[in-house]
Amino acid sequence: MSNYHIKHLEEYYQVFRKSVRNPENFWEEIAEEHFIWRKRWDKVLSWDFSKPEIKWYEGAQLNITENCIDRHLRTRGDKTAILFEPNDPSEEAEHITYKQLYERVNQFANVLKDQGIKKGDRVCIYLPMIPELAIATLACARIGAIHSVVFAGFSSTALSTRINDSECKIVITSDGSYRGSKTIDLKSIVDEGLEETPSIETVLVAKRINSEINMKEGRDKWLQPLLDKASTECEPEIMDAEDPLFILYTSGSTGKPKGMVHTTAGYMVYTAFTFKNAFQYRENDVYWCTADIGWITGHSYIVYGPLANGATSVMFEGVPNYPDWGRFWEIIEKHKVSQFYTAPTAIRALAKENLDYVEKYDLSSLKVLGSVGEPINDEAWHWYDTNIGKKKCPIIDTWWQTETGGIMISPIPYATPTKPTYATLPFPGIQPALMDENGKEIKGNQVDGRLCIKFPWPSMARTIWNNHDRYRETYFSAYKGKYFTGDGALRDEVGYYRITGRVDDVIIVSGHNLGTAPIEDAINEHPAVAESAIVGFPHDIKGNALYGYVILKETGEGRDQNNLRKEINQIITEHIGPIAKLDKIQFTSGLPKTRSGKIMRRILRKIASNDTSNLGDTSTLLNPEVVQEIMDNVL
Ligand code: WT7
Repeated sequence: MSNYHIKHLEEYYQVFRKSVRNPENFWEEIAEEHFIWRKRWDKVLSWDFSKPEIKWYEGAQLNITENCIDRHLRTRGDKTAILFEPNDPSEEAEHITYKQLYERVNQFANVLKDQGIKKGDRVCIYLPMIPELAIATLACARIGAIHSVVFAGFSSTALSTRINDSECKIVITSDGSYRGSKTIDLKSIVDEGLEETPSIETVLVAKRINSEINMKEGRDKWLQPLLDKASTECEPEIMDAEDPLFILYTSGSTGKPKGMVHTTAGYMVYTAFTFKNAFQYRENDVYWCTADIGWITGHSYIVYGPLANGATSVMFEGVPNYPDWGRFWEIIEKHKVSQFYTAPTAIRALAKENLDYVEKYDLSSLKVLGSVGEPINDEAWHWYDTNIGKKKCPIIDTWWQTETGGIMISPIPYATPTKPTYATLPFPGIQPALMDENGKEIKGNQVDGRLCIKFPWPSMARTIWNNHDRYRETYFSAYKGKYFTGDGALRDEVGYYRITGRVDDVIIVSGHNLGTAPIEDAINEHPAVAESAIVGFPHDIKGNALYGYVILKETGEGRDQNNLRKEINQIITEHIGPIAKLDKIQFTSGLPKTRSGKIMRRILRKIASNDTSNLGDTSTLLNPEVVQEIMDNVL
């Protein structure tokens, strides 16, 4: 990849043009560098977006952990691979070297094998941000098992839905977790979730908080004693390029969460390539991404991308405000972090606090600042640039998705001049297109439209687990022959992209992708609720917050509204998790609907956002009178 460590703008354009002119040649050259291939590919790419079928590096054989770990042992055996920073700052940080990572991943892999896990089996990982999470993930990859990491902030219902969808055989969890000053009983959430998951045979439990927990005879096993007995050698399972590496669930605008399937070779090549170029990683840098490994950002840019480059990747267990709002900056000073990657919602929360929290610490080690998850607003961008980067660190606003596997549109530090709120230019190999409402591509600059990608890239998700039709429908049917992202974007006069936000019923709250349908389904479970509709409205810190319009059944009408609001949020917490709670709940007698019965969310969105000057065309409404009622009672 040294050929493609892009260092200035002309070089970017050169590489980009090459990647478009001859994509196969381009991706072949990248794959040829550094990686260990057990067998070379026969064909770099075959694709058909109408099926859709996408194959990269067909015929190749490899194991991704061999590339992320074994390959570095000779030159970087004693280098820190994972730098674990615990929730409590008085607990010592743990430096896991590449050599130790090798041993611990192999031990874990052997434990999984002993539990009967084989290539292709699905393994659910429901762990807090402790080293076992990264190690378990890699251990699955070592033996060819497909990991399905479920973010440990999700509820028991969300966990069991995901386990059942992909029929996982085993769950890896912990007794509990630390989160700032709180502890969370993770194991009891698992116990509840496992009441209806017939495929689960075993639960492996890591010890983190040393709490008294219930261990189910025959099902639950403590992890550590098994690891202690396991060998530190485990031959990597040799995988085909297109064998699934993992499933990761993401919300859709309708229906249950989608199990996005990522495969081995293309994902590895693309995350390694983008990590190196987006962060300009150099050998002795310490890189820190604050995401949780339960999201794609953590998969690609805490685990696989950094490790494929032999990097030191910080893994932080805690939260930005514990013990106080200086924690992030303290960690940057303490570990001399060079690249820092976080979300706009965190930046906005931190920017609200006193600057003393920042100024107490020496942030001079920083070289690159990253942002991901949602559009970064102008104010947050400048605060980040001025106070954290001291105007010396390029800000990379990286646009991508669970489905894309890796960063798609982003400045390349020191090559691409940045522009506040712009994700700027596509990565080499990425061919964006803006589409109009009639399905035509909008050419030229200073235009806006719906963002599609015209050509395959190596780390794109290949399917939705068990539902290829839904994969085609969701991503490849809106615009023929193109991958549709669900986002709107504009292209400025020099060709820079700015992502303007979702154009479907997905709402990004604090950088988390939430579909309206599952939340509405949860609310409708409340015995007093007849119907509901969720929309997003702008929020200072979260970017968007959720606004619910709820129609009560007759039985609910005499009830105390504040109690009802609490109960509704309680149900949401149980079904999805606290991240999906509603900030505002308005009770109403009806919802604006079209004659075909579709809720006009556009109107509800405008009312919730206090933007009622122009509600647009309401003539197709079945019940226009309800709009006035809702406006009169808006919260
Ligand atoms: C959606 C994908 C990619 C990891 C985290 C989110 C929004 C993401 C940006 C950005 C504007 C962004 C989009 C996208 N998004 N990054 N830099 N600027 N919007 O992954 O949960 O799959 O969500 O997040 O709307 O479609 P995800």
